[in-house]
Amino acid sequence: MGKSVPKHVAIMMDGNGRWGKQRGLTRSEGHYAGAKTMEKIIDASIDLGVEVLTLYAFSSENWSRPMEEVNYLMHLPVKFFKQKLPEFQRRNIVVRISGNLEALPTRTKTALKNAVNETADNTGLIVNFAFNYGGRDDILQAVRHIVKELQDEKMDLTQLNEQVLQQCLYTKELPDPELVIRTGGEKRMSNFLLWQSSSAELYFTDVFFPDFDGPLLEKAVRFYQEKNSELIV
Ligand code: FPP
Repeated sequence: MGKSVPKHVAIMMDGNGRWGKQRGLTRSEGHYAGAKTMEKIIDASIDLGVEVLTLYAFSSENWSRPMEEVNYLMHLPVKFFKQKLPEFQRRNIVVRISGNLEALPTRTKTALKNAVNETADNTGLIVNFAFNYGGRDDILQAVRHIVKELQDEKMDLTQLNEQVLQQCLYTKELPDPELVIRTGGEKRMSNFLLWQSSSAELYFTDVFFPDFDGPLLEKAVRFYQEKNSELIV
């Protein structure tokens, strides 16, 4: 792409339900279409040279959706990785998960953990699924970890700084996102990567996620590049 590409792109994949409704389909069918789009966005990210792609696949707030929809969203990773894991391997993709896995049904948890373990030695694009993720929960679990370290006298309060907290987040080892995209027309953060997005460029599009594609991702990256053009040499 020539100019500098954001290392880490994070996407709030919004608009699946409305996309389905518009076509007389169910919300779950909208999510299925969203999962298909996810595959295209992964391909486009590899082509663009993005290093980390975070996809907001299930938020800690999504539990309040109708039970049928929640069940479907819990089933999707099982179906997705059963089909796609061999291709992920061929394409050298690394799977990561950010979020509280413990609260998930066993089948979902197993599919996600298995994808992480199986791809751990790969060295290509990191696809980080934010699953049962909430930005506040992320910070809270980091604080809990730090307080425990302090109580156990494994750390001294004077050692606590932003870097230490950053290393306790679900996204530890990943760079902060430089570009955060939200599809579906809303302009809110919805509890997504609150700590990590402090300096990110935010890009909003009215396009529903199932209609998002490679050229639209490129458009968002160009927006980022224009915003950061003074940094490009
Ligand atoms: C938001 O749209 C989207 C979600 C809650 C789920 C997104 C999940 C996927 C695209 C697939 C995940 C797959 C794997 C394998 C992890 P919405 O339902 O809020 O849309 P609306 O705003 O139109 O109601």
